Amino acid sequence: MKQKTLTILAIETSCDDTAVSIVNCKAKNKKLKAVFEVLSDVVASQIKIHARYGGVYPLLAKREHQKNLPTVLEQVMKKAKNPKLDLIAVTVGPGLEPCLWQGINFAKDLSKKLKIPIIPINHIEAHIFANWLNQEQQIMNNQQLFPAIALIVSGGHTQLVMIKDFGKYKILGETKDDAAGECFDKTARILGLEYPGGPAIETKASKANRGPSSIILPRPMIHQKNYDFSFSGLKTAVLYHYRQQSLKTKKSQKYIKAMAAEIQNAIIDVLISKTFQAVQDYQVKTIILGGGVTANNELRKRFRQQAKKFKICLLIPDKKHSTDNAVMIAITGYFQYLKNKGKNPGRIEAKANLRLK
Ligand code: KG4
Ligand code: ZN
Repeated sequence: MKQKTLTILAIETSCDDTAVSIVNCKAKNKKLKAVFEVLSDVVASQIKIHARYGGVYPLLAKREHQKNLPTVLEQVMKKAKNPKLDLIAVTVGPGLEPCLWQGINFAKDLSKKLKIPIIPINHIEAHIFANWLNQEQQIMNNQQLFPAIALIVSGGHTQLVMIKDFGKYKILGETKDDAAGECFDKTARILGLEYPGGPAIETKASKANRGPSSIILPRPMIHQKNYDFSFSGLKTAVLYHYRQQSLKTKKSQKYIKAMAAEIQNAIIDVLISKTFQAVQDYQVKTIILGGGVTANNELRKRFRQQAKKFKICLLIPDKKHSTDNAVMIAITGYFQYLKNKGKNPGRIEAKANLRLK
């Protein structure tokens, strides 16, 4: 492999973040060993706009992407000191279709103008590759990363994925209803906490009394011998518990904190149990975490403790790149480019339900 450095412009608009980045990517001899220098990395968050609705409102998000993209591009180009770009990487799915099209059409116009190719990117795969930033040493020192198990936990997805080798994925299990992030968001809403619910629940949970919980919630599907998840029953259990309380209790911080801690623990218990079951069943070498929910400190701590017990390599993205960003899109674009160099990527279009293969 040539030691060529590529400067990649990456665009991510699959949900409610307009993210653009410019990353210098340079290969190191071996497959999947590379160094990445982030020249600029901007995320224009729409949280304040969607908070009013308690969730993402697709057509509003689309309009915001349209408005934000030119400004964010200008910002990243300026920050990176207007480098010569070699390639554009853009998220094509999964995600909200109108939002995906905004990024894709913007990338296509730019590609024509700059006469550089576009690489279509799978958002889920990008959450996996977010780990290739800042963990070069761990990855380089590791003689063998694969087979690996990836746990993707975001607002839209909860999937356990077997990675036999680079680019060879098999979905072992996934949520049958709500995603883990969605469960954080919906239960936070029940408790009257702000959107997004994950960080809000985490903050309240961190202030709860330590020790045995006064509230016991279910751990859905934890004992089932498969790798699937289900979080809507947990949300319903929270709703019923909350409804049964007096107005005074509902408003009491003690109750909210205890409930937040129990919700967080219930979700983490299930995620840990299923992931480590897969680790044992498939004798993997590495666990790779990805997606917004992995920004959660308690989850990071619990996975680290368990990985230590199992003596298994664990990759967790840095917090900034756990949630949606465009650096992960650039990194994935780089590996995809190396793999498919010269091949026509075909028609680049939004694929709302794109799956890992
Ligand atoms: O990956 P992401 O940014 O967007 C999607 O691809 O969906 O994930 C967003 C999700 C939201 O549901 C949000 O509540 C959750 O990640 N999240 C968290 C935390 N930060 C974000 N969940 C738990 N704890 C957090 N600290
Ligand atoms: Zn995401």
